[in-house]
Amino acid sequence: MSAARAPALRDARVGDLLPAPVRAATAPLDADLSNLFDAERSAVERAIPRRQREFASGRRCARTLLAELGHPPVAIPRSADRTPAWPAGIVGSISHCDDLCFVAVAPVSALAGLGVDVEPDQPLETALWRRICTPDELAGVVAARPTALRGHTVRLLFSAKEAFYKSVFPLLREVLGFQAVEIDVDWATGRFRCGVDEALRARLPGGRTPEGRFLHRDGWVFTAATLSATPLEARSS
Ligand SMILES: CC(C)(COP(=O)(O)OP(=O)(O)OC[C@H]1O[C@@H](n2cnc3c(N)ncnc32)[C@H](O)[C@@H]1OP(=O)(O)O)[C@@H](O)C(=O)NCCC(=O)NCCS
Repeated sequence: MSAARAPALRDARVGDLLPAPVRAATAPLDADLSNLFDAERSAVERAIPRRQREFASGRRCARTLLAELGHPPVAIPRSADRTPAWPAGIVGSISHCDDLCFVAVAPVSALAGLGVDVEPDQPLETALWRRICTPDELAGVVAARPTALRGHTVRLLFSAKEAFYKSVFPLLREVLGFQAVEIDVDWATGRFRCGVDEALRARLPGGRTPEGRFLHRDGWVFTAATLSATPLEARSS
């Protein structure tokens, strides 16, 4: 077995965040260039060791998850727009932060879009709040969250927007600003809704918007946005 095919250490930290058939896991950032296929290596062979580790660890974790979906080990090259080029029939997303990566994959028969993000569960500095939040989001944070938790809440909104962006970018191929989506957090269920204007919604498959989930665990905040391949009416029938 070549190093590129070696399984990642996979932990169950985010196992309950996303429902089947999505496969999601975190893994440590301890892979290196030897874990990459030739088609992947050129993306980071001149990068600093830390960047090589995060790229290689994400690919290794993705291959572990793809194996769980019955997929043989394949290269996941980096596209010109920096998105991972997933094998046919697969949607997926990769995030890394400090010392772990967070990866999710799913069959396109289940999801049209999938985005994940991981951030340290630390307050986001106040100077960034207006850049990340819409005026309504900011008013909601101030009105509904205790002062000590507001920075953490904006961190969650930031992460949710990153996950949203990753879930729709492969479909739109357009850079979106942080004001393009409004996150509505449901604290009781660990879900969030992604509000977009009608023009943006109309460009998404079936006019649907991604559904969001979040999880605070071990000092991290994990977010995921999933855009169903199936219209709501079909899912409830
Ligand atoms: C693309 C972006 C979201 C990545 O987020 P990040 O916090 O810098 O880094 P993360 O570790 O979470 O994610 C990096 C991974 O995202 C993936 N990625 C990169 N560009 C992507 C894109 N346009 N769409 C989907 N995934 C992308 C890659 O897999 C990358 O890891 P890899 O290079 O090792 O494969 C961010 O750099 C960016 O461009 N943000 C600006 C736009 C935005 O966030 N808008 C939010 C409001 S909608």
